[in-house]
Amino acid sequence: MATYIVGYVIIYVSLVKLILGAEVFPRFKPYKINIKNVSGLFDYTQYQPFNMIEKELHKISKSQLKSVEAKLFSIGTTFENRSLWALKIEEKDTRKLKKNIVIDCGAHAREWLAPSTCMYIINKLTLEHPSLRNTKLIKRFNWIIIPVLNPDGYAYTWHNQSTRLWRKNRSFTEKQINFINEKNDELCIGVDINRNFDEEWGGVGAPANPCFEMYAGDKPFSEKESIALSNFLNTTINETLAYISLHAFGLSWMTPWGFKKQLPKSFNEMKRVAQIAVNAMKKLSGVKYSIGTSHDKLYPNSGSSIDWAHSKLHIPYTYLIEMLPGNNKTSSIDMSSFMPPPNMMVQNAKDILEGLSAMALSLLTPIRM
Ligand SMILES: *[C@@H]1O[C@H](CO)[C@@H](O)[C@H](O)[C@H]1NC(C)=O
Ligand SMILES: *[C@@H]1O[C@H](CO)[C@@H](O)[C@H](O)[C@H]1NC(C)=O
Ligand SMILES: *[C@@H]1O[C@H](CO)[C@@H](O)[C@H](O)[C@H]1NC(C)=O
Ligand SMILES: *[C@@H]1O[C@H](CO)[C@@H](O)[C@H](O)[C@H]1NC(C)=O
Ligand SMILES: *[C@@H]1O[C@H](CO)[C@@H](O)[C@H](O)[C@H]1NC(C)=O
Ligand SMILES: *[C@@H]1O[C@H](CO)[C@@H](O)[C@H](O)[C@H]1NC(C)=O
Ligand SMILES: *[C@@H]1O[C@H](CO)[C@@H](O)[C@H](O)[C@H]1NC(C)=O
Repeated sequence: MATYIVGYVIIYVSLVKLILGAEVFPRFKPYKINIKNVSGLFDYTQYQPFNMIEKELHKISKSQLKSVEAKLFSIGTTFENRSLWALKIEEKDTRKLKKNIVIDCGAHAREWLAPSTCMYIINKLTLEHPSLRNTKLIKRFNWIIIPVLNPDGYAYTWHNQSTRLWRKNRSFTEKQINFINEKNDELCIGVDINRNFDEEWGGVGAPANPCFEMYAGDKPFSEKESIALSNFLNTTINETLAYISLHAFGLSWMTPWGFKKQLPKSFNEMKRVAQIAVNAMKKLSGVKYSIGTSHDKLYPNSGSSIDWAHSKLHIPYTYLIEMLPGNNKTSSIDMSSFMPPPNMMVQNAKDILEGLSAMALSLLTPIRM
């Protein structure tokens, strides 16, 4: 989800105004968490800060599970030297070659629903006694999950209520420092990781002005996070069948392209699978997702990871998913939507695992589109 676009004009709202906006038009009480309350064991029914997520990932990777192996590795580090962790969950003791399903969460810092959903999926796929369905998922695919693609930004959103709605990463260039000094505007720091990929970089919906929330960076792949993810996807190109980027919010299951209206060649196949996923979620909880290209469903956007992965690496299925809550058409400034309560977070995670499971079991393989 993003800043607000009316037609194709981006309205720039400062962080302070955004937070005030949340107080003026609350959909639900913006959920606030006191970091002091978070300690001890990882709580899958509660939002968790980055250090707890890290600790939990290490714990899972060290536990001896009967049916699966969970290998933790870092695909790179960030500006502030945090690790970009990825967990590969695969069937134990098998020589069968399998395709990967790669999922990232948390490219946009304030979308806390995303890391929590990735952690929920990790938890369910690594249970000691997995359900029959989850066993099937593991037998068919390797699951590679990157729960926090923007840990610097995510950690920043945990500082206090005035940093809670940060979107970009925390890197800066000299140009940005100059902007910040000139305009005295903190928003000029950071880069929108999901506009920084080398596919129609800097085009529509990816502004060159660093003070915009969707700032695309100095050049394609200026950011360590986007470089890390692209290198990782590139080295696993032949084994990866699907790549999914989870975001919040808006209830849509989207395909490329973001940068133009035309449909990708494989649109019908991607749409067929998306429909199965969306139907499964609706059956589970009644939630209604729409399907389409991100250009049409979200707004025109350039330099996104799913466009890049589909266009440059030819990964057959790439999806951008905007999860709960839905858009509120009656109010334009609705920042509380980035702060849904924990019960909504849990429901969302259940829905998404249901949808991704239905998706996985209906992917065509082998395929090159
Ligand atoms: C949408 O926003 C309006 C105005 O703030 C509010 O009254 C309404 O309940 C919201 N609807 C939903 C579905 O959140
Ligand atoms: C956090 O702890 C404080 C003090 O112990 C308590 O009042 C508050 O309700 C807790 N908040 C959450 C979100 O659990
Ligand atoms: C964010 O952007 C900076 C530079 O613009 C990049 O160097 C850095 O690696 C990126 N992200 C972070 C915080 O890692
Ligand atoms: C990150 O680590 C490198 C190498 O250890 C160091 O030079 C750099 O100052 C660190 N950056 C930050 C933001 O801590
Ligand atoms: C919130 O945290 C940021 C980053 O650490 C800091 O610059 C700012 O002063 C803090 N604001 C408040 C109100 O504590
Ligand atoms: C992927 O497969 C192609 C064709 O077989 C091969 O040329 C290429 O080196 C492989 N790439 C990787 C990263 O393994
Ligand atoms: C993937 O990696 C290969 C080998 O390093 C490189 O030649 C190629 O340009 C990369 N592909 C993309 C799309 O970046």
